[in-house]
Amino acid sequence: MLGVLGLISCSPSKKEPTEQKQPWWKQAVIYQIYPRSFKDSDGDGIGDLKGIISELDYIKSLGVDAVWLNPIYTSPNADNGYDVSNYRDIQPEFGTMADFDLMLSEMHKRGIRLIMDMVVNHSSDEHEWFKQSRSSRNNPYRNYYHWWNAEKGAPPYRYSLFDEKGDAWQYDSLTNAYYLHYFADKQPDLNWENPKVRQEVYDIMKFWAEKGVDGFRLDAFQFVAKDTTFPKFPDGFEKDFMKYYAMQGNLHEYLKEMNREVLSKYNLMSVAEGAGNSFEDAHNLVDEDRQELSMAYAFDGVDIPKRTGYNLLHFKDVFSRWDSAFAQKGWISIFLANHDQARMVNRYATDDPAFREAAAKMLNTFILSMRGTPYCYYGDELGMTNIGFEKIEQYRDIAAINGYKKVLNSGGDVAAYMADLKFGSRDNGRTPMQWNSSPQAGFTTGTPWLPVNPNYVEINVAKQDKDPHSVLNHFRHMVRLRKENPVLIYGAYQLLQREHPQVYAYTRTYQGERFLVLHNFSNQQAQFELPQPVAAQRLLINNYADYVPEGKTLLLKPYQSVIYRL
Ligand code: NOJ
Repeated sequence: MLGVLGLISCSPSKKEPTEQKQPWWKQAVIYQIYPRSFKDSDGDGIGDLKGIISELDYIKSLGVDAVWLNPIYTSPNADNGYDVSNYRDIQPEFGTMADFDLMLSEMHKRGIRLIMDMVVNHSSDEHEWFKQSRSSRNNPYRNYYHWWNAEKGAPPYRYSLFDEKGDAWQYDSLTNAYYLHYFADKQPDLNWENPKVRQEVYDIMKFWAEKGVDGFRLDAFQFVAKDTTFPKFPDGFEKDFMKYYAMQGNLHEYLKEMNREVLSKYNLMSVAEGAGNSFEDAHNLVDEDRQELSMAYAFDGVDIPKRTGYNLLHFKDVFSRWDSAFAQKGWISIFLANHDQARMVNRYATDDPAFREAAAKMLNTFILSMRGTPYCYYGDELGMTNIGFEKIEQYRDIAAINGYKKVLNSGGDVAAYMADLKFGSRDNGRTPMQWNSSPQAGFTTGTPWLPVNPNYVEINVAKQDKDPHSVLNHFRHMVRLRKENPVLIYGAYQLLQREHPQVYAYTRTYQGERFLVLHNFSNQQAQFELPQPVAAQRLLINNYADYVPEGKTLLLKPYQSVIYRL
């Protein structure tokens, strides 16, 4: 311990990267936009591209470098755009291709890059490929999807994440065969073992790359490769389905091919959703010599919180282990939320008005002070919270609705399921962006597709913009601090006092500089003993305006988060 903090300055190690040679996405902060919920320009209650264009100056003001946009392609919306029926067109409710072109050029004008969501583990069942594929067994598109002819008997069980019966095979009477869908029955899985499918995908990616997009996030990509003989999996495999579904077969060959054909040609940033089952799986996706993807996006961090709470030591261990596994090679994403999660404040801290703001600032300080590329989910820069629906009729998410039917039909514990949804449903994280205190939070002049959280009068951009101590301005301040201090981007991470039950503390060290980062993850005051005192003058950021911890015995207020230069 003493050794760690005793050093005020330290000499650069040979392994430290020089930031000049690093790709842009390592130094970037990424802002994720769920387009349906960000800003509506035409009063139909659904966010759209013109709405995003109108808020580009706001996005710029955050200091972020890139936007990851959830799917905006034509879609019947079984899963809000994650069921694509035309990969080369824009969903009419989001606007037109002209709007897209304008959005991209306006982003680039402001130095903001765009990362598109590529949903190619599956398409919509309304995609022309699937319509053809389903039409006859001899159709040239038949092999674009996975079919099992019924005369062979029932196919070996495959688990579906979204199906109301949990069954990934859907019988189709037209050709007396079953098709495979790991997600909903309206999301048939594409057959990546068919080279024609892969070429189609690369052509689609080139289409967007030619338009000038800067990167891709590959949805559910770890599932694309499959053993098309469909062997029987052991009974109960669905409890551990990742082992059977993720990183199978020729997945790496496909990624190398994609890299050769598209990613490297257009110099695109790339990230796949999920990173397999181990550090080794994750390294195999992203290590520089593999020529596959840019960075890993692993779920271990967002899988931690449960309705019943979570253990801070476990949280520290998860993030520390990922950091150390990637300390020398490869690169990871750092995030506490996305469109598949409820709001981070509720999951990792509290929405109790007494602590909510401090907690939101602390969590943002956390993601922006770790090694890896931070992703901020829209609204988290304000500390938006769960809406907490009580009734199943209030939900819009297919995962929630079909999950409910499954629990009901199997005689499960419906009350527990509803409580889980209230805490963790994806709709909690999809309520409209809270822009101001006018009706519908300034998101729309119409009726929003999902209700606005009633707390918008308190939590909104306009109010926080004016307040130098708001969650929003803390976020901006923290982004600036990260940008100005490469130690926060590249610095070696060292966990301090792992066993401390309330405080998550670490140092970041880089080229003679060392920062000390402390977060009190509890709603009580916490005490943290340092081997040497720290002075208030060394404080770089603090989420409490009126209280600076200093000395050797630091007293941290509830959810207080501070960074010192040592
Ligand atoms: C993962 C996406 O993040 C999620 O929103 C979607 O429902 C599934 N993949 C299916 O595409």
